[in-house]
Amino acid sequence: MTATTTSAAVRVPRRPRGFAAWRWELLRGVSGRTLEIGCGWGHNFAHYPAEAAVLALDVEPARVRAAAGRRARPTLLVADAHDLPWPDGAFAAVVGTLVFCSLSQPAVALAEIRRVLQPGGRLFLLEHVRSHRSGLARLQDWLAPAWRRVTGGCNLNRDTEAAVRAAGFELERRQAAYGGMLELMVAVPR
Ligand SMILES: C[S@@+](CC[C@H](N)C(=O)[O-])C[C@H]1O[C@@H](n2cnc3c(N)ncnc32)[C@H](O)[C@@H]1O
Repeated sequence: MTATTTSAAVRVPRRPRGFAAWRWELLRGVSGRTLEIGCGWGHNFAHYPAEAAVLALDVEPARVRAAAGRRARPTLLVADAHDLPWPDGAFAAVVGTLVFCSLSQPAVALAEIRRVLQPGGRLFLLEHVRSHRSGLARLQDWLAPAWRRVTGGCNLNRDTEAAVRAAGFELERRQAAYGGMLELMVAVPR
């Protein structure tokens, strides 16, 4: 875990190197009751600020078990992002990283996320997406079917930003990298 102790109780994550810096950049703005969907093996956990009270879910029990082995871990559960077991307005923030590429019904999950967000709550996403550069996007489209088979369901060419807007969110922050194939988004319900 990349962290330093500034007092007896508060651990402040430091900016890490490599791809983890993107996770840190996304998560440093998160606070309050937070839901992470599709947490996988728990690669985000070390990057949450102390102000975030995190619950994390994944639909795969084996991944939740693996994530439970991390030193810095939130409350974990097995659940489906398409059918969130919480009442309306339960969270101040919802986080997803590299997860919208593999959801079978992104619009359904976004409607659920919108439902469980409090008024003024925020959606924090870091997603690999279809590039806005036409040459790269065509290459992604061409590779997508084989990629989906090899990875067991990961979609290389989803326009997640468009899906987020169509679900009734507006983007408060957007940062793209790797030729537009990676997007950091912070969105609020309109
Ligand atoms: C590529 S992994 C990313 C894991 C993690 N978010 C990260 O950044 O390393 C995508 C994860 O989404 C999970 N997932 C796929 N469909 C899901 C669903 N319907 N509900 C919850 N999690 C789901 C998968 O089990 C997998 O762990």
